[in-house]
Amino acid sequence: MTRRLIIATIAASLGGLLFGFETAVINGALPFLTDFFVLTEAMKGATVSAALVGCILGALFAGRQSDKFGRRMVLRILALLFLISAIGTGFAPDIYTFIGFRLIGGIAVGGASVVSPLYISEISPAEYRGRLTVSFQLAIVSGILLAFFTDFLLIGTGENNWRFMMLSMAIPAIVFLLMLFMVGRSPRWLVKDGKTDEAKRIINEVSPGADIDKIIDDIQKSIDQESIQKLSALFERGNFRLVLIGIAVGMFNQFTGINIIMYYATDIFRSAGFSTNSAIGQTVIIGFVNLLFTLVAMRLIDKIGRKKLLLTGTLGMGTFLGLFAVAYLSDIFGSWLLLGFLICFIAFFASSQGAVIWVLLAEIFPNNIRARGASIGSFSHWFFNGLTTFLFPIVTGLFAWGRGTGYVFVFYSLMTFISYYIFKKYLIEMKGKTLESTR
Ligand code: BGC
Repeated sequence: MTRRLIIATIAASLGGLLFGFETAVINGALPFLTDFFVLTEAMKGATVSAALVGCILGALFAGRQSDKFGRRMVLRILALLFLISAIGTGFAPDIYTFIGFRLIGGIAVGGASVVSPLYISEISPAEYRGRLTVSFQLAIVSGILLAFFTDFLLIGTGENNWRFMMLSMAIPAIVFLLMLFMVGRSPRWLVKDGKTDEAKRIINEVSPGADIDKIIDDIQKSIDQESIQKLSALFERGNFRLVLIGIAVGMFNQFTGINIIMYYATDIFRSAGFSTNSAIGQTVIIGFVNLLFTLVAMRLIDKIGRKKLLLTGTLGMGTFLGLFAVAYLSDIFGSWLLLGFLICFIAFFASSQGAVIWVLLAEIFPNNIRARGASIGSFSHWFFNGLTTFLFPIVTGLFAWGRGTGYVFVFYSLMTFISYYIFKKYLIEMKGKTLESTR
C-alpha cells in the first residue's frame, strides 16, 4: 500500500472517528447539562435525539451532493459542520441553541456515514478495499472510546465541564479538515466529471504499476450520465434488488440491538444487579472488545470475503443474544455470565456486521447509483437506530423490572437468525472484484 493511499484512508476515516465521538460524548455530558439548564425528561430526550434526526437528514442528502460536488468537497463541508457543532454546543447560552447545534453535528455524522466509506472504497485497489473500508468502522469504535475517556477526564473541571466535553470535538474536527487538503479526489468521481487526467494521476499514486488505461476504460464504460441524473435508475431491474439489500443491511445491523447496548449498557447491567460503578466499568470493557474484534474483521475481510464473515458472525450473534435473553429472563445464570454473553455478542458483532455494513454499502452499488444507494442504506441504518432507541425504554416499561429487556433481546436474537437466511440467499460477494465488475 502506498503512503498516499494510507493518508487518504486515514483522512476519510476521521469522519468515522467524529461519528463515534459525536454520538458518544453526550453520554458523559448529559447529567451535567441536565443540572446546568435544569432539564425536564422530555428536554433530555430532545437533546439526545436531535443528533439522530440530523443523522437521518445527513444520510439522505449526502449521497446526491457527493455526486454533484464530489466526495472530497462534501467531506470538507462535513468537517466544517463538525467544527461548528463543537463550538456551538460548547458555547451554547441555552438548551435550544445546544439542540440546534447538535442537530448540525448529527447532519455531519449522517453525511460522514455515507461519504467517508464511499470515498475510501473508490480510491482503494480491489485487493485491499475491504480492509481499508473497515478502517472507517475502526475509527467509529475508537471515537466512541475516545469520547468516554474525554468525558471521564473532564468531569472535575467545574460546572462548565460539559462545555469542555463538547468543545473537545473541535480538535479531531480541525485535524479532519486539514487532512482533507492533503488528499486527492475520488478517481471514479473524476472520470464521471470528465477529469480523466487527474483520475489517472490519482490511480497512479494509490496503485502504482496498475493498468491505468484499463481501469479508466472500465470506469468510463460503467458510467451512464443519464442514470446518474435520474432517481428512477434506482428502480431499474437489477438495481432495485441492490437497493433492497442495502436497506436490509442497515435494518438488520440495528436489529442486532447493538446500539441498545451502546447507549443503555450501564442501565442494563444495573438492572441485572451490578452497582453503578461496576456497570460503567463493564461498558468500558465492551468498548475495548468492540475495538479489538474490529481489528480481527480487518484481517479477515479480504481473505475470506464479506459474505462468509457476515454469515459466521450472524450465527454467533444470534446465539449469544438468545443466551443473554434466557439468562435475563430465567435467573439460571449468574450476572457475570450475563456480562460474558454480551461480550461474546460484541466480539461476533465487531468482527462481522459492525465492519461489513459500511463495506457493503460502499461497494454493492454500481458507479451510476453508488452514492444514492449508499445514502438509502445508511438512511435505513439511522432510521432503525432511532426507532429501536426510542422504543426500548417504552417497551421495557411495559413489563416488570428487567423482564422487558429479556423480551427485547429474544426479538433481536430472532431477527438476527432471520437475517442469516436473507443474507445467505441474496448477498453478493465483492471480494477481490473491482467496483466496475458485474454484480
Ligand atoms: C453501527 C453503529 C454502532 C457501532 C458500534 C456500527 O457499525 O453502525 O450504529 O454504534 O457499530 O460499534
